[in-house]
Parts: sequence; C-alpha cells; structure tokens
Amino acid sequence: MSGSRPRHVAISGAGGQLGRALIDVLSPLAAHLSVSDLDIGRLDGISRRVPEEGRAEIHPAPVDVGDDDALRLWLAACRERAPLDWMIVNAGLGGPSPQGALCEDPGRTASLIEINLRSAIEQCRIASEMMIGNGGGRLVLISSLSALLGYPDAPVYAATKAGLRAYGLSMSARLAGTGVGITIALPGFLSEGMGESGTWRPFSMTPRQAARQIVGAARSGRTEISFPRPMSAAIGALGLLPATLRGAVYHRWSGQSQVSSQS
Ligand SMILES: NC(=O)c1ccc[n+]([C@@H]2O[C@H](COP(=O)([O-])OP(=O)(O)OC[C@H]3O[C@@H](n4cnc5c(N)ncnc54)[C@H](OP(=O)(O)O)[C@@H]3O)[C@@H](O)[C@H]2O)c1
Repeated sequence: MSGSRPRHVAISGAGGQLGRALIDVLSPLAAHLSVSDLDIGRLDGISRRVPEEGRAEIHPAPVDVGDDDALRLWLAACRERAPLDWMIVNAGLGGPSPQGALCEDPGRTASLIEINLRSAIEQCRIASEMMIGNGGGRLVLISSLSALLGYPDAPVYAATKAGLRAYGLSMSARLAGTGVGITIALPGFLSEGMGESGTWRPFSMTPRQAARQIVGAARSGRTEISFPRPMSAAIGALGLLPATLRGAVYHRWSGQSQVSSQS
C-alpha cells in the first residue's frame, strides 16, 4: 500500500449516507472496497451501482458490528481477499434525545454505547492486529464535533463520540512505530443521514463533502480533522465561554434542549 492510495478499504455501516459517499469518493482510488451494514438490501444496491462509476470492486456483506463473532468473521474474510489497508469505523447510531426528557432511556443509552463505542473499539482492535501482521495500515474513526463540547440535545451520543476520540488519540500514540496510523474525523452536521431531525443544523454539509474531507485527511496521514471550518471554529469559541453563558447559547441555538422537571 502507498499510504495515500489504499488498495483495500473496509467500511462498516456503509449503507448509510456517509458510508455511501465514502464509497463514491474511494471508488476511483482503491482496488477493493469491503463494505458492510445491517441491511443487506442497501448493500446490494451499492454493489450494483458503483462499478459503473468507479473502478473499485465492491464486496458487500451483512454485518451487525455489535456481534463480535460476525465482526471477526467479516474482517477475516476481508483479509483473505487482500491485505487490509484502511478500516473506516463508520457504523453508528444517532439522532437527538427525546425532547423534554431529562435522561435518555437506559435501553437507548446502552445501544449508543454498544455500537458507537464498544463495537467501534473492537473494530479497531481486530483491524489493527491484522494490519500490524501485514506491515501497516490506517484506522479511520468517524467521531463528531460533538466530541469536543457535547450537544445538549444528544448527550449520550456526544459522550460516545468523545470516548471514541479519546480512544483514537490514545491508540495513535500506542501504535507509534507499528506502521498503523489513526485518523480521527470530527464532522459537524451532515445535511443527510442520522439526526435529520428538523432542528437547526448550522453549516451543514453534504455527505459527499464530508467524505472528501475524511479521505483527504486519511491520505495525508493526519491524526485528526474537524470540519467544516466555520462550525469547528464556532465550537472552539463556545468552549471559551463560561459554562452558564455557553448553556444559554446552546439553548437558543437548538431551541429544544430545555428539560422538563416533570420527566
Ligand atoms: N449525520 C451527521 O450529521 C453526522 C455528524 C457527525 C458524525 N456522524 C457520524 O457518521 C457516521 C455515519 O452516519 P450517517 O450520518 O451516515 O448515518 P446513517 O445514514 O444512519 O448511517 C449509519 C449506518 O450505520 C448502520 N448501523 C447502525 N447500527 C449498526 C450495527 N449494529 N451494525 C452495522 N451497522 C449499523 C446504520 O444502519 P441502520 O440505518 O439500519 O441503523 C446505517 O446504515 C456515524 O458514525 C455518525 O455518528 C454523522
């Protein structure tokens, strides 16, 4: 593999909006794209569509990333095909918390932690061990700008994305010298995909714009990228405010983060 031109890329949750855009952007670059999602129907659509547009061979598989055995079998099958150069840890659950409730319900909290954090870490563990055996590679972790400061309308989601970022930064240092690099992507709001909730989504970008940023950062070996720039700057500026003022700005911004004391 040349770091900037991976031959074989695996993408989890590839049937979603960002996953499909990543396939489109990577298709002219890679020889093999191993793509998985819960819904095999979505992947059938992808495998029929993409070969006409790009040159990568698409290998779809139905995989629940929360199922460790299924995940291990899928990644082993990927490696049989060709050494894995990049693993894009993209599968995720999201959307805003129920409006007016103080806390997310325990079941939803468990699912968010399970898929966005535990299974993401397991994807990294399995893929990085394979990559070290093959002489190197890159893990691309899809976190979120919410990791930097939290989103009051999606606190558990933000916590999982902050956890994933912390894991990625820690592993990036730990993997130094192994040939395995890490790119952590912190996208702002996408105009499509999870969280199309009708709430204000400032500086939102298309999945294709986000995919280009992510692939560009991974190709150039960056450890972290946050985008789009105006949203990233706004989050940075919010972080400088005292907590009470920041909360007021957030409430005004989202218009739905107030919590009912009845709930
Ligand atoms: N949309 C945004 O504004 C935004 C912003 C920042 C970061 N992100 C991150 O970008 C990534 C992609 O999000 P997206 O916007 O493309 O959302 P999306 O369209 O909902 O895509 C997420 C995909 O992951 C799949 N998935 C969920 N649970 C899974 C499981 N257990 N096993 C395998 N696949 C599973 C989903 O399948 P189902 O649809 O069947 O559940 C879906 O196809 C996520 O990690 C998200 O947190 C999104």
